[in-house]
Amino acid sequence: MIISVINYKGGVGKTTMTANIAAEMAYRGKKVLVLDLDPQTNLTFSFLTVEQWQHAYQHQTIKRWYDAFIDKDEELDLKDFITRPERAHKRLRALEATGILDLIPSHLGLVNVDNDLAIKIWKGNQGVTERSHRYEYLRILSRLKTGLIPLAKNEYDIILIDCPPNLNYVTQTAIIASDGLLIPAKPDYLSTLGISELKQHLNQLIEDYNSKAQMEPYGYKPICPYWLGVVFTMVGLWKNEPYQTLQDYIDRVKRQQIGTFETLITENKTDYSEAPEKGIPVVLTPASKDRYASIHMRLKALTSEVEAKIQQMKSGR
Ligand SMILES: Nc1ncnc2c1ncn2[C@@H]1O[C@H](COP(=O)(O)OP(=O)(O)O)[C@@H](O)[C@H]1O
Ligand SMILES: [Mg+2]
Repeated sequence: MIISVINYKGGVGKTTMTANIAAEMAYRGKKVLVLDLDPQTNLTFSFLTVEQWQHAYQHQTIKRWYDAFIDKDEELDLKDFITRPERAHKRLRALEATGILDLIPSHLGLVNVDNDLAIKIWKGNQGVTERSHRYEYLRILSRLKTGLIPLAKNEYDIILIDCPPNLNYVTQTAIIASDGLLIPAKPDYLSTLGISELKQHLNQLIEDYNSKAQMEPYGYKPICPYWLGVVFTMVGLWKNEPYQTLQDYIDRVKRQQIGTFETLITENKTDYSEAPEKGIPVVLTPASKDRYASIHMRLKALTSEVEAKIQQMKSGR
């Protein structure tokens, strides 16, 4: 299963959520791969130290994988880009977990890949038949999908992709690769307006891709990623309930029948921002007295909900 965590807003908790769901699934015994597709590299550095990354980056970032394809049409094996973050791994073993948590790291230079992909898709468009342009579009945008499929089939129970806050070409390759889409969102005015727009844009992209795939005999099948739904994050609580204004926004989204998760991820700047420095997502941090207890409870409940929706998704296929 390949799930993209996506929202074209930054700072809504995508990376934090990806890391924690991945960690909790690994704790429950699953083989999990996380792919950092954001040039901001936050997911990468919530698992690796700068020194570890510098040691590995020349050979092992997703940027290099895209570059080889863009520059030389080389289809490198994504397996060679996987690392096992040491600190999270140790923590999982200390908890006697049998699961695996692996990472494909990102690179600040991934920001250029969007442009390079655009050029590759449109290059030589003049004089080229519509058909060969369509073929290039499909080949290039489905490259991540074809790269991830063997890993999803043979190596991992779940692959989570942490997307950048945009719908540019790199993000599009993730959406096309995905079986499911998970949308973290803050319950505020702009975010709630943005969700239906996001869904519309995603549907448009899927339609465009499918209309081309349906015309081609090259084996590019139409895609239909399952909308897992919206998870509300950074929700401020008052006496254990969301502030009324936040609840109003949550209700507004629910009324749009857009698919939402019951579990709310609450606001807790200190506990969420400390975890990445330790290389261990907060859900795996030892609970001391009451600290973390409520965060752990919510992250575990969210993971259970995600797992249940993945089951629904599987049974619907
Ligand atoms: N539930 C939360 N409450 C408070 N702060 C959070 C929460 N989740 C994440 N953060 C913090 O908010 C910032 C943005 O989160 P991040 O996961 O990087 O968002 P995104 O990937 O959407 O840009 C980070 O500093 C992170 O530590
Ligand atoms: Mg992020």
